Amino acid sequence: MGGEVKPAKGLRRHLNAGFVAGFLLVLLTYVIVSQQFAMDTPTAVTSTAPRIDETGLVTKTSIDTEKTEQERQWPKETPKDASGAVSTEEFPKIHSTNAKQLENGKVVCSSNGLYSDTCDVDGDVRINGTALSVTLVPASLSSEHHEWKIQPYPRRTVSGIPEVTVTQLASPEEQAAPAACTVTHGVPAVVFALGGLTGNYWHDFSDVLVPLFVASRQYGGEVQFLVNNIQPWWLGKYEAIVRRLSRYDAVNLDRDAEVRCFRRVTVGLRMHKEFSVAPELAQGGQRTTMADFAAFMRDTYALPRAAPVSVGQSAPEKRPRLMVIRRGHYRKVVNMDEVVRAAKAAGFEAVVMEPRFDERVEEVAREVNTFDAMVGVHGAGLTNAVFLPAGAVVIQVVPYGRLERMAKADFGEPVADMGLRYIEYSVAAEESTLLEMLGPEHQVVKDPEAVHRSGWDKVAEYYLGKQDVRINVTRFAPVLSQAFDHLRHR
Ligand SMILES: *[C@@H]1O[C@H](CO)[C@@H](O)[C@H](O)[C@H]1NC(C)=O
Ligand SMILES: *[C@@H]1O[C@H](CO)[C@@H](O)[C@H](O)[C@H]1NC(C)=O
Repeated sequence: MGGEVKPAKGLRRHLNAGFVAGFLLVLLTYVIVSQQFAMDTPTAVTSTAPRIDETGLVTKTSIDTEKTEQERQWPKETPKDASGAVSTEEFPKIHSTNAKQLENGKVVCSSNGLYSDTCDVDGDVRINGTALSVTLVPASLSSEHHEWKIQPYPRRTVSGIPEVTVTQLASPEEQAAPAACTVTHGVPAVVFALGGLTGNYWHDFSDVLVPLFVASRQYGGEVQFLVNNIQPWWLGKYEAIVRRLSRYDAVNLDRDAEVRCFRRVTVGLRMHKEFSVAPELAQGGQRTTMADFAAFMRDTYALPRAAPVSVGQSAPEKRPRLMVIRRGHYRKVVNMDEVVRAAKAAGFEAVVMEPRFDERVEEVAREVNTFDAMVGVHGAGLTNAVFLPAGAVVIQVVPYGRLERMAKADFGEPVADMGLRYIEYSVAAEESTLLEMLGPEHQVVKDPEAVHRSGWDKVAEYYLGKQDVRINVTRFAPVLSQAFDHLRHR
C-alpha cells in the first residue's frame, strides 16, 4: 500500500506529507508480516455463564424508547437464529439451568496478537458515549468487577484512537452504573472506530469493511453501528456497503448524549488477517469466508458477472479481458506499451486502467467486474480484485527487494481467499530502475537482506518509494500464458 494515500478531499492536505505518512501505513503491515506474527487463537476471558446462543437476541423491534427497566428483560419470544428458524435445542436448556447467569449476562473478550482485542457483551448493556463506556449491569450480585480497555480500531499499533472501557459490574447497585436507559434498542450493536489508516483504499477494506462484515452480517441488517471517531465522508463513500450491513443510521458515539441500552454489544472489530477472513477464527454466528465477502460486494453493487469468460467455449471466441493497473507516482511500469503488447500476444484483450480512489466506488466496481484478469505492481489498486468475478486471475508484480512476504500477506492470500487465482511475478534486479539509478555495487541492489536487517526506513525509501520496474516481457510471457490457461481450463 506503499503510500498511496488517497483520502477524501478534506483530508488531502493533511496527508499530503504523503510519502512519509503513507510509508508509515505500510510499516504497520510490514511489522506484522516480518515478525512472522502468528495469530493467537482467540482466548476467551469469560467471566460467568456458558455461551448463550446469541441469536436469541435477534428481535423484530428496532428502537423502543418506551420500555421501562423491568420490561427490558431477556427476550420472551422464541429464539430464532439468523435465518429465522426457531432454535429448539440449546436455548431452553441454558435458560433453565443457568437462569441467574443469564440474567447477569457475560463478557467474552478475545485477544488477537498485534491486532486489537474485542469484547462481546451480553445482558443489560448500557453505553455512555460521552464516557466511551460500555457497562454490563448484572441483575443480582454477580462475580467480581472486571474492566477491559478496548481500542475499537483493529490495529493496536495505530495511535490516536480513544479507547472504550468495557466494565462488568459486580452488582446492580455499584456506583459506576450509568443511570437508566434513555434509548433502548431491540437490536444488537457493534462499536467500532474510523480514522486510523482509513482513507487508504486498501486499509478501508482490510481494517474496516471486511471486519465489519464479519461482525455484522449474521444480523441481516438488524444491527446498530456506534461509531467512535466518526468520519462522515467515509460512511458516505462506502454507504452502499454499510447500509446493507445495518439498516439504521450510524450513531456518532463521541457526541452521543444518550445512555443507550442493548442486550448484545460487540466492542471493537476483530481482524483475523490482512484484508481477509480466517474462517476458523470466526466466533459464534455463521462461518464466514473472504469468498463470502467478495460475493457480498458483487451483490451490493449489483455486479453482473459472477464468473469470468470461459475461454474456448464461446463462438466466435471472446478474448478474456485483462485489466492492467497503471500507477501514478512510484512503482510504475515504465514499459507499459510493451507489457500491453505481450498481454495481447498471450490472447488477452488488455486495457490499461488507472483507478482513481476518489471515483465513486460503484463505478470502479462495475468497471472492474467487466474484466477476467488483473495485473498490477504491488499497491492499493489491487484492492479492486474484490470486484472481479469469482475464478478470475490476479497477477501481482512484486518489486525488487525481497518484498514477497509482504506482497503475499497483503494481496496474495486475500486474493486466493476470495476464490481468485493468484499468480506472483517477482521483479529481478535487471528489471528494477534501482539498478541504473544506484549501480550494481550499491547495497540496495546487491544485498536486499541486509537492507531489511537495517530496518524499515531504507526498505520503504528504496524498494517502495524510489523504484519503477521495466518488465522483461520475455521473462513475463509465461506468466501471462499461465493466466490465460487458467481461464481456458476452468
Ligand atoms: C456519561 O458520562 C459522562 C462523562 O463521564 C458523565 O458526565 C455523565 O453523567 C454520564 N451519563 C450518565 C447518564 O451516566
Ligand atoms: C529477459 O529474460 C530472458 C529470459 O529470462 C533473458 O534471457 C534475457 O536476458 C532478459 N533480458 C534482459 C534485458 O535482461
